[in-house]
Amino acid sequence: MSLISLSKLLLLFSLALSLFSSSKENSFVAVVEACSDVLVTPGASSKGDAMIGYNADDPALYGVLYHYPPTTNNNEDDNVDVYDWDTGKYLGEIPQVNETFNVVGNGNEYGLVIGESTFGGVEELAAQPGAIIDYGSLIYLTLQRAKTARTAIKTMVELMDTYGYASEGESISIADAIGEVWIMEVIGRGPTYSKMGAVWVARRVPDGMVTAHANQARITTFPRDDPENCLYSEDVVDVAVHYGLYPEHSNVSDFSFSDVYNPIAFSGARFSEARVWSMFSQIADTDGSFQMEYQDYAAGRNLNKRMPLFIQPYKKLSVSDVMDLMNSHYEGTELDATMDVGSGLFADVHRPRPLQWDYKGKMYFNERTIATERTGWNFVAQIRPNLPRELATLIWFAVDDSSTAPRVPVYASSTTIALPYEGKGTQQGVAGKLMKLDMSKAFWVQNMVSNLAYSRWDDAYPIVRSRIDEIHAKFQSQVDETDNTALAVYHSTSAAAAVEVVTNFSVLAGEKLHKEWLDFYGELFVRFRDFSTIEAEPDNTRCGCSVQQPGLTDRNKKRIVKETGSHYEVPHEDTRIGFDVESIY
Ligand SMILES: *[C@@H]1O[C@H](CO)[C@@H](O)[C@H](O)[C@H]1NC(C)=O
Ligand SMILES: *[C@@H]1O[C@H](CO)[C@@H](O)[C@H](O)[C@H]1NC(C)=O
Ligand SMILES: *[C@@H]1O[C@H](CO)[C@@H](O)[C@H](O)[C@H]1NC(C)=O
Repeated sequence: MSLISLSKLLLLFSLALSLFSSSKENSFVAVVEACSDVLVTPGASSKGDAMIGYNADDPALYGVLYHYPPTTNNNEDDNVDVYDWDTGKYLGEIPQVNETFNVVGNGNEYGLVIGESTFGGVEELAAQPGAIIDYGSLIYLTLQRAKTARTAIKTMVELMDTYGYASEGESISIADAIGEVWIMEVIGRGPTYSKMGAVWVARRVPDGMVTAHANQARITTFPRDDPENCLYSEDVVDVAVHYGLYPEHSNVSDFSFSDVYNPIAFSGARFSEARVWSMFSQIADTDGSFQMEYQDYAAGRNLNKRMPLFIQPYKKLSVSDVMDLMNSHYEGTELDATMDVGSGLFADVHRPRPLQWDYKGKMYFNERTIATERTGWNFVAQIRPNLPRELATLIWFAVDDSSTAPRVPVYASSTTIALPYEGKGTQQGVAGKLMKLDMSKAFWVQNMVSNLAYSRWDDAYPIVRSRIDEIHAKFQSQVDETDNTALAVYHSTSAAAAVEVVTNFSVLAGEKLHKEWLDFYGELFVRFRDFSTIEAEPDNTRCGCSVQQPGLTDRNKKRIVKETGSHYEVPHEDTRIGFDVESIY
């Protein structure tokens, strides 16, 4: 989702500072939205799968699994209403195509999967009067219309060029069932160029390699004569020249998409590329050399040391490795935010937004991790090329925070969605249901679990983590069984019968997980009630439990004493000191 142009933010900040030099904090509110993606090729995967991990981050995004049933024999004059995914605003209508495919979340029945992150880029290019296709509609229209990554690129380009592109710059992740994985970066042609739509470069991720992106354009220079691996719009340089972003008559081989359309700045490194750095560091090697080599870049101290677009992981990645990459809070790195006073009494990684804040005329910021409370929904898609296309694509889908939510496996050919997960989105003209707690919805139960975990992070997160890992392991073995059953039915009966098997499995998995997770909320709540840690102790005749007091860590004791001096110091010898006085009341 979109990252409001950070340069605009900086400008607003300096304005705000100069206008209200002693105004109260948070006097201006900027909506900053964001996302993270990782793209894995079959040759980099332990099972030969193409995989995409995607977190859709936006605190106003209602977490549901979208479903577009297939349609056939549509009339020439049928139209599709297009709504802006970010805002729900009606943008216009476009003609429907003759046939559309079954879409579940961000995958379709042919094994096409699409994700994105917004880089924003040069602001002027985001405005295009009359444009109808925003980036969300671009994704969901294309999933209904294309079967492969190459067709998806063609379809997206046609949609943008025909109806205009209504969004900021985007990095788009695309993978398909023939094992092709592409990263495509697009930015609008702006208001004064002679043509609507967007310019773009799409690069195929070389087999055996991995890429990632998170709100900073990553394609720099690119080959012009390798259509197997690199596609681009003919006027990708011309548009830059038109807007004075690039000198005329220069050597096109030197043209860097990212450096021209989304030049790297501190914010792009620390808030965006740091996420990529976190993922790459975990898979590039085992000795931390990648992490150290690019640490100054990720931290925003050395913007010249850009990371490679693709890296080869030191080992082949499983689906659970990819899930782990999406769980990162920068643990154990220089950017780990659990150590400073902002982490509160429970070593929390979360901080209230806005991301940036001012204090006495200086600007500061919060760290921007991959896993975040702001995620609306997220998935890891696994496209298995050796299965029939109806069975090939699994969307491991979760609502809310990717690190605190269990993922339910859903086959992309499913014809029904489990009720706790089912729902429409703003791109369909339906507003999210964020003002009423609804325990029948996974989104709300998940938020209850996450928010409880945030309040006791160092105690609760390890428990949440291990429960999620157990659930995923159980689902993995059920998926293996379901694959076998469905494959047998596919061969003995029909593809449609196999689709019924995987639909039933996916629906049941969602319903069961929802119940299990509500129970888990109860377990966590019982355990961490009132700042105690309460565990079962069957022999205990008072409550069948032991009530423990977690106390303060030394780190926090030190801070409190430093800040308050003798305010809390026991002033003279008290015979009761050393006893827990509360234990006798
Ligand atoms: C429309 O799609 C159907 C299959 O859904 C196909 O049988 C038909 O030939 C198509 N018609 C046109 C005009 O392409
Ligand atoms: C353009 O740059 C490329 C790579 O830097 C170089 O190989 C090529 O010779 C240059 N072409 C011209 C016309 O200068
Ligand atoms: C799938 O579920 C439906 C509804 O519960 C049921 O009628 C049908 O028999 C199930 N099909 C399979 C193949 O399990």
